[in-house]
Amino acid sequence: MTTRENFGSKLGAILAAAGSAVGLGNVWRFPIETGQHGGAAFICIYILCIIILGIPIMMGEFLIGRHTHSNTARAYQRLAPGTQWKWVGRLGVFTGTFILCYYCVIGGWTLHYTTLAATNTFDGVPPAEFQDIFALFVSNPWMPTVWLIIFMLMTHVVVSRGIQHGIERFSKIIMPMLFILVVVLVICSVCLPGASNGIRFLLMPDFSKVTGKVVLGAMGQAFFSLSLGMGCLCTYASYFNHHTNLGRTAVNVCVIDTIVAIMAGFIIFPSVFNIGVDADHLQAGPSLLFISLPNVFQKSFGAVPFLAILFSTAFYFLIFIAALTSAISLHEVTTAFIVEEMKLKRRWAALIVTGICSAVGVVCSLSFGPLKDMLIFDMSIFDFFDYISGNIFLPVAGMLISIFVGWYLDRHILIEEFSNNGELRARYIPVIVFILRYIAPVAIGLVLLNQLGVFSFLV
Ligand code: PFF
Repeated sequence: MTTRENFGSKLGAILAAAGSAVGLGNVWRFPIETGQHGGAAFICIYILCIIILGIPIMMGEFLIGRHTHSNTARAYQRLAPGTQWKWVGRLGVFTGTFILCYYCVIGGWTLHYTTLAATNTFDGVPPAEFQDIFALFVSNPWMPTVWLIIFMLMTHVVVSRGIQHGIERFSKIIMPMLFILVVVLVICSVCLPGASNGIRFLLMPDFSKVTGKVVLGAMGQAFFSLSLGMGCLCTYASYFNHHTNLGRTAVNVCVIDTIVAIMAGFIIFPSVFNIGVDADHLQAGPSLLFISLPNVFQKSFGAVPFLAILFSTAFYFLIFIAALTSAISLHEVTTAFIVEEMKLKRRWAALIVTGICSAVGVVCSLSFGPLKDMLIFDMSIFDFFDYISGNIFLPVAGMLISIFVGWYLDRHILIEEFSNNGELRARYIPVIVFILRYIAPVAIGLVLLNQLGVFSFLV
């Protein structure tokens, strides 16, 4: 049997897991949801979701990975031999691959927009034309394909180098860079004239906008943002060593992810208010990142062209590295699975994943152009991938993980893992078990029903 690699340091492990969590979800969904659903009121609810659900489920995933030191599919088989729980692990591998197939499309767009911003393409473009620039780009059969393949190759290079020399080393370089970029962009943005209106909009608690649906939306967002339910964190935890404090690591990752999400709001809203765009009409998702924001940045910093170039390039580069570190974690789930289950060398396994995800990614990408009329359940191929993984696979897997750890797993395993074999006190174990047994499954069940539209009466 070949020896399995581990992360070489605690910091490396935290930064890699934080790299998985901090991604497109932080930048394009969180700030807008906050803005539209009561500002600070939404932030409070989101933070509650992270504390009550996010941290315990993340700890559950960490426990499964670290205890078994195997890929996600095998982890469940080891913990529950001869049972159907193996399907939860397999679902994690499948969902990870599925998400990567469409995530890489947007990863490619971020690269393209970084180059557009760096070459000052947005200078002097009338506001209405940003929509056309984007529409022309995504519907072109070649350009987005080339960028997504470049993005996948970058992911491939890191994953194929292994844990310590690839993922850990890369995370240690790129994550501090990401934090610096976030801080610099926040400082630039809050110094703009009129920024205080944006800050007020973002932070003014307005509980009248908080409905049942908003709360369930906050839970769903917390899930996606923390990379829960997809096998990523379980796979990364399989490389944690026996001294890694699982509880503390989960708290650190959740804090980093939430701070970056809130700071993304501080980058976006001051600029938006600076030029007087109606924030209620901003849409989450691609149109925010690739249509509204280039215009907003251009207008905000246009008086000093050099600053406009610098700010937008830094912003798109930031999204690109956030997307890249998340894509790496998704890639690793399937690569680890192939290495261990099919006994292939890492570089071949990584090549298979890169090949499959790039090929399916191209099909998703073409659904904005030549394949736009090809619909699955009335959705474009891209939307179908996004909908089914985020709204169905992810909550289902999250619910099963909490039931597995809360109800099925032997309490001794929990004590052994959370206390590092008695090294730590871990007095919180009964609370975590209570949440995983009773609160998480019910809460996630409600999120699932909400996302399936069953709760349409909740306004
Ligand atoms: N957490 C990432 C984001 O916020 O964009 C997305 C993601 C990455 C989801 C990895 C799931 C995952 F396994």
